[in-house]
Amino acid sequence: MSDWAERARRRPARAVTVRAPGKINLSLRCGALGDDGYHPLATTFQAVSLFEEVTATEGAGITIEVSGPQAELVPTGEDNVAARAVRALAEHIGVDPDVTLHLRKGVPVAGGMAGGSADAAATLVACDALWEAGLAREELAELAAELGSDVPFALVGHTAVGAGRGHLLSPVMTRGTFHWVLAMRSEGLPTPAVYAKFDELTPDAAIDPDADVDLMLALRQADPVALGAALHNDLQAAALALRPELGETIEVARDAGALGAIVSGSGPTVAVLARSAQHALVLSATLRALGGADEVRTVRGPVQGAVVLTP
Ligand code: C5P
Repeated sequence: MSDWAERARRRPARAVTVRAPGKINLSLRCGALGDDGYHPLATTFQAVSLFEEVTATEGAGITIEVSGPQAELVPTGEDNVAARAVRALAEHIGVDPDVTLHLRKGVPVAGGMAGGSADAAATLVACDALWEAGLAREELAELAAELGSDVPFALVGHTAVGAGRGHLLSPVMTRGTFHWVLAMRSEGLPTPAVYAKFDELTPDAAIDPDADVDLMLALRQADPVALGAALHNDLQAAALALRPELGETIEVARDAGALGAIVSGSGPTVAVLARSAQHALVLSATLRALGGADEVRTVRGPVQGAVVLTP
């Protein structure tokens, strides 16, 4: 029996709860589909205050329970990315993947905010603590990258540039807090379908590596007006082609005085930038009144990545 397994055998039953944030993409620049089936990206993620919470307790095999809005849309079988996270970590440290996970959904399902990725990141951290594996964050990040392009960012949070598939991260210097309104839709958009539409619309896609200089400056200067002008998403046209009503949401937000409004990642969530927390409340009331979404939430960013809530 390995050291890990021996320690796990002697340990009293307990629960570990970890919280991980959803993200928005302040900029997403996408190149042409590569031979590996992925698109090269240059993206700037910001973690926002909409969270997934995962509680891991000992179990026999892997059991996944889900609660919260849209819980019924989340598959609980072995393909769930949280179950894949359990297996990846268990294999890495040499224990049996015996755990019960309870996922409390706070991030919209298939909403372009990486809620499933947040579940996977939280699961890695929770099981690492439950099994007293003590892996370094770098090691967890390597496992995370195997699970999905957005999982490493949910581990680290704050604001970061993602290269490669979006998984090779560099932190970005930011000051201050930005206030967002999220216009969410109950019907999700499958990421692969949006990328396929992007390929159809943009056969000669290429990334301009210098395009986000203004964005970086806006973040460093805590300047929401400049940030609003610098928001960019190469996938937006594809998301709008699949869901034209998102264009109306963006227009409603702009007409209401938003500093910027953009589809987050592959959508359908629209991220709307406000001047202040107070302005975010005004914008959210307008979006609610004009019916530009199924649910509207105000959030702030950046926030930290996956963090253990229970000892
Ligand atoms: O990595 P992840 O599992 O989140 O990606 C889901 C799907 O999104 C991939 O199977 C691929 O079709 C698409 N994708 C892509 N290029 C990326 C990231 C994701 O084409 N950089």
